Parts: sequence; C-alpha cells; structure tokens
Amino acid sequence: MSYKDQIIKDRIPEHVAIIMDGNGRWAKQHGLQRMFGHQQGVKTVHEITTVAAELGIRFLTLYAFSTENWNRPKEEVDALMALLVDTIKKETPTLMKNNVRLLTIGDLSRLPSATREKFEQCLADTAGNTGLNLVLALSYSSRWELTRAFQQVAENAKKGMLKPDEITEQAVAQYLTTATMPDPDLLIRTSGEYRISNFLLWQLAYAELYFTDCLWPDFTVEHFYEAIVDYQHRERRFGKISEQVKEGNRL
Ligand code: IPE
Ligand code: IPE
Ligand code: MG
Repeated sequence: MSYKDQIIKDRIPEHVAIIMDGNGRWAKQHGLQRMFGHQQGVKTVHEITTVAAELGIRFLTLYAFSTENWNRPKEEVDALMALLVDTIKKETPTLMKNNVRLLTIGDLSRLPSATREKFEQCLADTAGNTGLNLVLALSYSSRWELTRAFQQVAENAKKGMLKPDEITEQAVAQYLTTATMPDPDLLIRTSGEYRISNFLLWQLAYAELYFTDCLWPDFTVEHFYEAIVDYQHRERRFGKISEQVKEGNRL
C-alpha cells in the first residue's frame, strides 16, 4: 500500500521545512559534475511542491542556499545563481496554475542583481495566490537572522520604542524573517546528515525531526508521503505529559 493511502487527512502538518541535501554526492555517484546534481534536485523541488500543494500543506520552506554556501568554489556559486534564475523563469507558470505563493527568507542583498530581480518579479507575480506558501530560504542562516533581529531590537530600544519587559517570546518572533509564518511542524533532512546547518534554530524549537539517507535528487513523492505518515504517528507533547495531550483531553 502506498504511503499516500496511509495519510490521515485531518492531521496534515501546517508547515513542513526541508534541508535539501545531497545533490553533490548524487552527481558523484553518477560520475557527473556537481551541477548535474543541482539540476536534478530542481526536479525534486518541482514534484514535492506539487504534492505539498495537493495535500493542503500551508507552508513549505526549502533550504536552497545558506549563508555559508557563499564560501563554495566560485564556479559552483555562479552556476547555482544561474540555475536559480532559470528555474524561477520556468516554474512561475506552474506556481500560478497551482495557486502557489512564493515567499523568501534570507539576505537577498547578497544575491547578484539579475537573480534578485527575477526573484522579486516572481514574488510579485504570485503575491495574490492563496494556496501553498512556498518559502525559499536563500542566502539564509539562523545566526544571520538572529543577529539582524538583535540589531533591530537594540535600535528600537535606543529610540525608546521598546522596553525590556516588552521583549516577550512573541515580540522576538516578530523580528525574525518568519514573522508571518507558523513554526515548522516537521523538518525533513535528506542525505543522511544529522545536523541543522544553521537553519531556523529558533523556529524549530518543537518541530518533529525526520532524517533520511536518501539523497535529495532521489527523494520521491513516496518518500515525502512516508515522512508525513511518520510525523502523523508521533505524539507532540510540548513539554506536557502524554495524558494531557491525548485527543479530547487538551489541558
Ligand atoms: C544541497 O546539496 C544543495 C545546496 C547546498 C545548494 P549539496 O550541494 O550540499 O550536496 P552534497 O551535500 O555535497 O552532496
Ligand atoms: C545545508 O546543506 C544547506 C542547504 C541545503 C542549502 P550543506 O551541504 O551546506 O550543509 P553542511 O555543510 O553539510 O552542514
Ligand atoms: Mg551538502
């Protein structure tokens, strides 16, 4: 039986975040250069985005390029930026057809201007779509995001607009790039690495973590369904005890 048939329709995670890892190793396994792995990875993005929209997931956040990825060899960074422009151009009609809204988190000021412009155009084109929110984390890292938030908090405090006791958890969340989004319910990382790599450190506080050895270009729709089913069988206690969180017994 396909994992799709095992999905519990009223327990779909609202927000799924994915660390899409393993493109380079996939290419190596196939005797190809790393860029072929990234190209293949784009196909996976297309498929997973389509099924996430079908399932009624509200937010899908994809870690596409980290702050630290700027330190890769220049040829790879340049080729990734070119691939990004090309992909956005090609994928915009599909996003429109599937009612997907593109959002982004990260330091876009570091992107080459051609990439940034294409990206901003796609953000504007899809702004009215009301289905899945597809959030691309681009030139993103949590430490970049938190540092920026601290700077803004300090600025506002200096101006007398913020008092120490007004810095609540909710207020902190408003200073993050994810201010308008719910926290991820499920984090998937492919490629067999068991680390977070500077991704959504604040927001993942209570996410369910799911690791698979599968490399991102090999990650299929069926793998995605499997991760969702696994998530649906977890008990999320948020610090409480099991009896408190059992259905119909929310204290
Ligand atoms: C993930 O694949 C994509 C990006 C980070 C851009 P990698 O490029 O990290 O692939 P591996 O980890 O080297 O296999
Ligand atoms: C994490 O992958 C970042 C993205 C998937 C964009 P990396 O390949 O950069 O992570 P590390 O270096 O193995 O932790
Ligand atoms: Mg990697």
